[in-house]
Amino acid sequence: MRRYHVTTFGCQMNAHDSERIKGMLEELGLGEAPSQADADVLVFNTCTIREKPDTKFAAHLGHAVAQKRAKPDTVIAVGGCYAEAQRERLFTLYPDVDVAFGPGSIAHLGEWLGAGGAGVSRGRFGVDERSFAGELPMHRERSFQAWVQISMGCNSKCAYCIVPAVRGRESSRRPGEIVAEVTRLAADGVREITLLGQNVNSWGRDLLPDVKTEFGELLRACDAIPGIDRIRFTSPHPKDFRAPVIAAMAECDAVCEHAHLPLQSGSSRILKLMRRTYTRERYLGLVDELRAAIPDLALTTDIIVGFPGESEHDFEHTLEVVEEVGFDGAFTFVYSPRAGTEAAAMADQVPEEVKRDRIERLIDRVQRLAHERNRARVGGVEEVLVEGPSRTDHAFLRGRTRRNTTVNYAGSALPGELVDVRIDDATSTTLRGVQAVAVAA
Ligand code: SAH
Ligand code: SF4
Ligand code: F3S
Repeated sequence: MRRYHVTTFGCQMNAHDSERIKGMLEELGLGEAPSQADADVLVFNTCTIREKPDTKFAAHLGHAVAQKRAKPDTVIAVGGCYAEAQRERLFTLYPDVDVAFGPGSIAHLGEWLGAGGAGVSRGRFGVDERSFAGELPMHRERSFQAWVQISMGCNSKCAYCIVPAVRGRESSRRPGEIVAEVTRLAADGVREITLLGQNVNSWGRDLLPDVKTEFGELLRACDAIPGIDRIRFTSPHPKDFRAPVIAAMAECDAVCEHAHLPLQSGSSRILKLMRRTYTRERYLGLVDELRAAIPDLALTTDIIVGFPGESEHDFEHTLEVVEEVGFDGAFTFVYSPRAGTEAAAMADQVPEEVKRDRIERLIDRVQRLAHERNRARVGGVEEVLVEGPSRTDHAFLRGRTRRNTTVNYAGSALPGELVDVRIDDATSTTLRGVQAVAVAA
């Protein structure tokens, strides 16, 4: 039997696409290889959000090419956002690549690879004939957790961002299809779902006039499905976070007390240049509304430093907002120009050393605040969904709280079980504790 190996870069959207890629390959009769070295079909699901993932992919491809030289019937397939961004140029850049395909074209993978993954041909690109990965066969990594794609593409025009160019316009999946998938997942033993979209809060708008709905209604529909204990979603764009969604978060038992609310910058001037269409004040107002409705809410965010034209004064605004909100965690990025985006052509690019200095100061602040937030949980009891053994110490188990904090704890439970854990210690990213209630045998 020929065997495949998939290497995934990038966001949850790509991780979810990889589950479908694996499902498709298995349907073609391939088995999963334990490592790249043992595989005949090497698939790379790429990301191009910043320069770093591009470089990382190039390094991985180097190993793949060496493997192919030693064993010429090896097939190299490259999918995802970098493949879409480079399109036909990919074969010139990397002549050893056999198949290339864009993120919306996973459904066609079988046609290019042929039976048993032996045949090869050029791939297909283009955001015009995309299909939802959710309707393809799949290979889920965990039996009790699942991603559910609710939309593809993005209609925003954030000046720094390549995603609209590689994933196309926003297209929402119909509510009936989403609910049917979640119902199937629940019947399959899934307890936690994460609804995925580049902007979950604009979900449904493009279904008008056929279907009139909004994201809050979808949260309620998923909450009503028996067996689903936890509902998460990512990402909500602050500009579209409306009252019905906040109400649904507050009222639905299964919807977790966590929002990942990308800030990007705390300076209204930079936000405008970024085309985020909200101000610092509106963002802070939204945080207040969310916290008033959901008292125990955890807030995480994405922040970019060194966007073109960002002054020290602008950056200090970002630090102020970070301090004022007190995020539970943040992904921090150095601005990386992406060819073809509006910001890449802006004058006033910030020098590398200034970006470095700012990101270090930002990370310091973020970690200090997150540590404080986590320390405040010490002494309390948290409901933890068990995921498996701890990554650092196998004597401990690992899981996540409803607020999405990782907990390493002493106890005994099987992956997929919900247990109560008494928290006795905290770092800036994790909690530690002891199982409070013995699980029934
Ligand atoms: N659709 C999601 C974000 C997807 S990209 C959303 O809007 O929330 C994830 C994060 O990568 C973004 O929130 C942003 O902080 C960061 N990012 C995107 N483009 C970037 C760039 N050119 N340079 C640095 N960071 C970037
Ligand atoms: Fe990119 Fe902005 Fe769309 Fe997010 S909302 S994917 S940052 S363009
Ligand atoms: Fe995700 Fe990277 Fe594409 S962040 S949408 S895989 S460019």
